[in-house]
Amino acid sequence: MTLVSTNRGLLERARRVMPGGVSSPVRAYGAVGGEPPFIVAAAGCHVTDADGRELIDLVCSWGALIAGHAHPRVVAAIEAQARRGTSYGAPTPLEVELAEEIAASVASAEMVRFVSSGTEAVMSALRLARAATGRDAVLKFAGCYHGHADALLARAGSGIATLGLPDSAGVPASVARDTVTVAYGDLDAAAHVAGRTPLAAIIVEPVAGNMGCVVPDRSFLVGLREVADRTGSLLVFDEVITGFRVARSGAQGIFGVRPDISCFGKIIGGGLPVGAYAGSRELMSLVAPLGPVYQAGTLSGNPLAMAAGLATLELLDGTAYATLEARGARLQRELALAASTAGFAARVQRAGSLLTLFFTDRTVLNEGDAQSSDRGRFARFHAAMLRRGVMLPPSQFECWFLSLAHDDDAIATIADAATASLKEIG
Ligand SMILES: Cc1ncc(COP(=O)(O)O)c(C=O)c1O
Repeated sequence: MTLVSTNRGLLERARRVMPGGVSSPVRAYGAVGGEPPFIVAAAGCHVTDADGRELIDLVCSWGALIAGHAHPRVVAAIEAQARRGTSYGAPTPLEVELAEEIAASVASAEMVRFVSSGTEAVMSALRLARAATGRDAVLKFAGCYHGHADALLARAGSGIATLGLPDSAGVPASVARDTVTVAYGDLDAAAHVAGRTPLAAIIVEPVAGNMGCVVPDRSFLVGLREVADRTGSLLVFDEVITGFRVARSGAQGIFGVRPDISCFGKIIGGGLPVGAYAGSRELMSLVAPLGPVYQAGTLSGNPLAMAAGLATLELLDGTAYATLEARGARLQRELALAASTAGFAARVQRAGSLLTLFFTDRTVLNEGDAQSSDRGRFARFHAAMLRRGVMLPPSQFECWFLSLAHDDDAIATIADAATASLKEIG
């Protein structure tokens, strides 16, 4: 075996044996150009690439690492568990503890089922919703990503509502037809669809993180709750990003809206593969072995992931969220200032430690607004930041994720890099 240690060499090798050289498409830098750094180590808010460069990381495993990389308490929990075994395929006390933590933190989560990814959590939540309602159709919102299950890879055309067309090759048209998509924030369109089509579920990111950061008006979520109640569908909050990120009680805690089913992932696994769906005792009792909704997994509730998740949640007290809020607010202010000094039309949108710098002059309320952003400018900005040692998510339509390890010095460094990068890309 030839050992090639540089990024370039690794990319060449990777592309020979893995589609695009990556395990998940966005990592290939298709939206921004250039070559992705291959990461060999990480600690705190830094990652080190195969060329030995240290970068400030604002991807943080797409939000999973709210405590930062290799937090000593999380690493210790994983190490200790690994010594006791990595997977049993049997119940463990750790999953009981984590389920209890989730139930204690999130009001609507009376019972929890662990799975291995956010995709699996949402896919299973929809199966449960369909079983509970006896209906097939699902309403989603354009620009919300809910993982790559067939039913959710459908999007709207323009207009008030369009029956879904597959958004990926290989998704059966028959499956996509059951997914209706309307614009994020458009309560009237959602009510219209729900009045016309018997829906199993209305699924939404209660703060959208997959068209960049978009915080809805509370009335949108309250309205969806009312529409779901009036039309007999279930309200599903996909809190895979927002869960334990915007607050311990999730976005549902902040907005005070109670969904029927919640989906989690990322943070509850502390950087290891995880997902979960949760809801009322009555609803979750439909899940096997209590009920007829079959759903299973060899590695579900994996003890390493449970241990990492528990250690992470232990770090997330009131002080931690106050710190994340303060650092997010500071970065938002500094980025907005840097953009206006550079003379760019820009919007910095934020929910706690999630934020996006959009290169557009409009407030971004939905996917259409997000797409008005200057993606070419974002690509140049991304490259300029990388040259200055700051690794942003490689797309205009993603959130930047802060962690507890992004201290004031790191925020200052990011802000300085942004000021210089914006000036450079002029
Ligand atoms: C809101 C949301 N739901 C679901 C998913 C899918 O999670 P996973 O990538 O763990 O399958 C993601 C992934 O980023 C997400 O952001």
